Amino acid sequence: MRVLVIGSGAREHALVLALRKDPSVTAVYAAPGNAGIAQHAQVRAVDPSSGAAVTALARELDADLVVIGPEVPLVLGVADAVRAAGISCFGPSAAAARIEGSKAFAKDVMTAAGVRTAHSEVVDNPADLDAALDRFGPTWVVKDDGLAAGKGVVVTADRLAARDHGAELLEQGHPVLLESFLDGPEVSLFCLVDGETVVPLLPAQDHKRVGDGDTGPNTGGMGAYTPLPWLPAETARAIVEDVVRPVAAELVRRGSAFSGLLYAGLAIGQDGPAVIEFNCRFGDPETQAVLALLESPLGELLAATANGTLDQVEAPRWRDGAAVTVVVAAENYPGRPRVGDVISGAEDSGKSDTAAVLHAGTQLRDGQLVSAGGRVLSVVGVGADLAEARANAYARIAGIKLTGSHFRTDIGLAAVESRISV
Ligand code: AMP
Ligand code: GLY
Repeated sequence: MRVLVIGSGAREHALVLALRKDPSVTAVYAAPGNAGIAQHAQVRAVDPSSGAAVTALARELDADLVVIGPEVPLVLGVADAVRAAGISCFGPSAAAARIEGSKAFAKDVMTAAGVRTAHSEVVDNPADLDAALDRFGPTWVVKDDGLAAGKGVVVTADRLAARDHGAELLEQGHPVLLESFLDGPEVSLFCLVDGETVVPLLPAQDHKRVGDGDTGPNTGGMGAYTPLPWLPAETARAIVEDVVRPVAAELVRRGSAFSGLLYAGLAIGQDGPAVIEFNCRFGDPETQAVLALLESPLGELLAATANGTLDQVEAPRWRDGAAVTVVVAAENYPGRPRVGDVISGAEDSGKSDTAAVLHAGTQLRDGQLVSAGGRVLSVVGVGADLAEARANAYARIAGIKLTGSHFRTDIGLAAVESRISV
């Protein structure tokens, strides 16, 4: 099987590495890719948001399967274009990707499916903002009502900060979504979904805030770990049975059956799991940790999902132990990141059992590796338990140099110290 992976982040780097380990995968291509991915796959240029361009490239490469990493192409219908050309594609149709692309659609589906989620209101007129804020908070949750890569969200007990963020979004012409605050530890549960067939992967936890101890602004994700020692097995089962299956069934009922990776982001509160958001693709940085523990051949799982035969595949197998991803970010991320700095110590032979360095915002300039984005690298540590996986990730990071870069030192630490309970 010849596979083309669309995207350029550390998530796609992890997908490429896992696909390379699958004996049924004979060739892996990536587009646009990045400097790290280029060491493991032939990288090609493409506009990932153009269905015509992705389809033409898949034809040229004689790809049997196209795997679409990011949400933007999915929301724009790139998977529809690839499938219309007769090529298998891992990723939902534009209609099903609305579960991520339209917060109103997602809420509507959840209500119809009887799934618990935050109460919400959309504000599109500055004159309505104050009265709406009075109906929420504290704590206030203020979101950009569109795709914002996780950075359009402010969660705060400070009414002024909530108001400022809402007013700024409205000034930019973006409607504002206010939500009730969902308390409790967060879980990211990725499920392969093919219509009503739902196959969960290992639960993971992201760390959204930029600073240690969950301080500072929200980011696209600064690190993640899997599995979650504090999550009871029956809660994980309840997420599949009471959240993901009903939503998958509701999408089928509406004629927008989901095919691909459905990502449920939840808060585990006093009354059980409640949905913060659905995403229509693998999450970043959780994927880097989850795939590090996958023993089953990834190509087979993705192809079966894409081809409508997921119900015939044996459940994924996982290696024992734990994995931790730590994101190395550029100076000033999540603001406008400093780019163009030389990175040293990131070389990865791909042979270490304990740590890997995956690339996100990197580029080669005159043969040197330089930073080219906010989240630059994902360092993945694997170990017999979470403490060992953390130690392996941080030991590997110590050898990497990038001027001004920063990373969180506490990824997975609260779980190691048993400070999380549900
Ligand atoms: P989103 O972009 O919707 O994924 O939100 C980013 C992050 O903001 C989430 O991972 C949560 O940490 C936080 N968040 C979003 N919505 C809520 C909510 N209703 N209650 C509590 N936290 C939230
Ligand atoms: N881990 C957050 C996301 O992928 O949206």
